[in-house]
Amino acid sequence: MERFSLTDYIKKIPKAELHLHIEGTFEPELMFKIADRNKIKLNYNSVDDLKAAYNFNNLQEFLDIYYTGAQVLISEEDFYDLTWAYFLKAKEDNIIHTEIMFDPQTHTHRGIPFETVIEGISKAQKDAETELGISSKLIMSFLRHLDQKSAFEIYDYFVHHKDKIHAVGLDSSEVGNPPSLFTDVFKKAKNDGLKITAHAGEEGPPEYVWEALDILTVHRIDHGNRSLEDNNLIKRIAEQQIALTVCPLSNVKLKVVDDLKKHPLKKMLEYGIKATVNSDDPAYFGGYLNDNFIQTAEAINLTKDDVLKLVRNSFEASFVSDERRAEMMNKLSDFSI
Ligand code: HPA
Ligand code: ZN
Repeated sequence: MERFSLTDYIKKIPKAELHLHIEGTFEPELMFKIADRNKIKLNYNSVDDLKAAYNFNNLQEFLDIYYTGAQVLISEEDFYDLTWAYFLKAKEDNIIHTEIMFDPQTHTHRGIPFETVIEGISKAQKDAETELGISSKLIMSFLRHLDQKSAFEIYDYFVHHKDKIHAVGLDSSEVGNPPSLFTDVFKKAKNDGLKITAHAGEEGPPEYVWEALDILTVHRIDHGNRSLEDNNLIKRIAEQQIALTVCPLSNVKLKVVDDLKKHPLKKMLEYGIKATVNSDDPAYFGGYLNDNFIQTAEAINLTKDDVLKLVRNSFEASFVSDERRAEMMNKLSDFSI
């Protein structure tokens, strides 16, 4: 009998990704190509030079490079190419559904029309659905280093693109920018029927996770690692089955955890938390979704049942219709024995 390989199992099992910034999938090779096309000179001489800069001591050091990279995106074609390149990677990883975050303010603040961004991304989403069989939803993320007024300005675009935007999120520099600063804009989004998610407890304290839950009334928490410092919070998240979209390789690169071997993912599962595995900004953090699963499984001894649970969690926590969820769950039948 052939020996069971967890790596093969991970590669083959159909997966969903729930925490992915499209600007964070910008591979250096594509960045140079698009910069050339737009006659923009990058501050780096080569792909290797650029990659060598991808060493971060914290979230802010990463964000500074990530926002700089995004500046070469100008035309609808650029946003299409960026998104399509991610979908091709997703296909290789057997992702069947993905929920993509984009940061409109990163682009509108440098004069790129909102329409250019959203049209490019959503055309790639349509093509991925028909050509690759990958379904997707778009999450419009507000930058928390900017104020709520700016978030409302971006939110106004939603009205013209209701068919393309499914949820709102909150990202960027966490410490000093708690969820409560964005209470009104999230309230409006919820009233308008949008799903809600927020980065919390990545670098910020457990109080920020409480705020995301109690004040923003989120459906999911992005990251949420620091929830584990508060037993009442663990209880709350587990009881209400609020999903955490955990990103192991991101956590190591941004020094949220010291070492993948010390990653709390297994502990989260033991606490009954609905944890999921995701890649966050794979072009910057050294791996797409399968790499996140494979490296983490090896580092903390995940079992086949852990992997299956994590995949199931992501299907349960996704913002799809009940019909699509059932269809996705059905695809797991061969992987459940
Ligand atoms: N945290 C906060 N903001 C971000 C991240 C992240 O991990 N990735 C892209 N924007
Ligand atoms: Zn993120």
